[in-house]
Amino acid sequence: MKTIDLHNSHIHFSLPSSIECEGSVLIVSDSVVSPLYLQNLTSIIKAPSIFSYILPSGEESKNAQELFSLLEYALTCKLDRKSVMIALGGGVVSDIVGLASGLYMRGIEFYSIPTTLLAQVDASVGGKTGINSPQGKNLIGLFYQPSKVFISPSFLSTLPQREFHAGLAEVIKMAICFDPSLFSSLFSPQWLEKNLEEVIYTSVSLKARIVEQDERENSLRASLNYGHTFGHIIEQEGEYKTYLHGEAVSMGMVMANALAHSLNGFSSSQEVIDLLSIYSLPTHYAINNEERFFQALFLDKKTQNHKIKFILPKTIGSYEFAYPEHEEIMAILREFK
Ligand code: GLY
Repeated sequence: MKTIDLHNSHIHFSLPSSIECEGSVLIVSDSVVSPLYLQNLTSIIKAPSIFSYILPSGEESKNAQELFSLLEYALTCKLDRKSVMIALGGGVVSDIVGLASGLYMRGIEFYSIPTTLLAQVDASVGGKTGINSPQGKNLIGLFYQPSKVFISPSFLSTLPQREFHAGLAEVIKMAICFDPSLFSSLFSPQWLEKNLEEVIYTSVSLKARIVEQDERENSLRASLNYGHTFGHIIEQEGEYKTYLHGEAVSMGMVMANALAHSLNGFSSSQEVIDLLSIYSLPTHYAINNEERFFQALFLDKKTQNHKIKFILPKTIGSYEFAYPEHEEIMAILREFK
């Protein structure tokens, strides 16, 4: 059985037949995933007591109110420092549970069982946890590693196609920055179908290698934010309801590519649009108010001393960090009408 060790996280590429815990367990899931998988998961956990907590499905749940309701529920269950929280769901569940477990009694263990492609290839690995606020996405959070991650492709059989495609946006992101051969292969949906498990493993391995070297995103890890600088504003402008995270990243990559073209001559913008379109991912965001969009970029976590940091591809398989001038960014924003 394949595994990857990342700091104190053990990432397993299957779901075991039993999960043993010394302390009580709180499984946190959402309203879509829990009817499908909660009972099965409960049946394989061996623990003194097992509780469950269900969040409304969707990015809108990643807020302070839901976080505190979850923490208060954990208190009523009398979880202690031997207890474990288990995130069963997509990126929203893993982000909020990671943060709750990091805060509860100053930190208890959490396991992640990602049920979406996006969470399997990205959100469940690497310990970024957080909630959204009206000012921006993931601005409140911790780096807090899950002690175990169980990634099983069996969950993807019930995943709606729109969600599957949104998860692929993160795979395409990795391919553009690091893996030209994966990028070419992804042009064939038949190839992807046959090789999905390998693609998930490759994406997680690439991410693990990066997080191992730069857990707290001092430099290298920022590469995983390609498409996210613009994408987070797109999500925020849609009040986290209009677009799935991966869809916003898809449009964000197209915008980053336009900036890359103007700054470093990146010449594969159309190829990227063609690949994203194969998986019905949106490739154009119409900006309503360029000045407001521009101002929102300053709350990006990579911004330092009023310089917005962008991850820009140079070729398929290489990228650079760039700190463009105000007018260089505005020129791109004006292209997206
Ligand atoms: N999702 C980007 C990262 O984990 O760094």
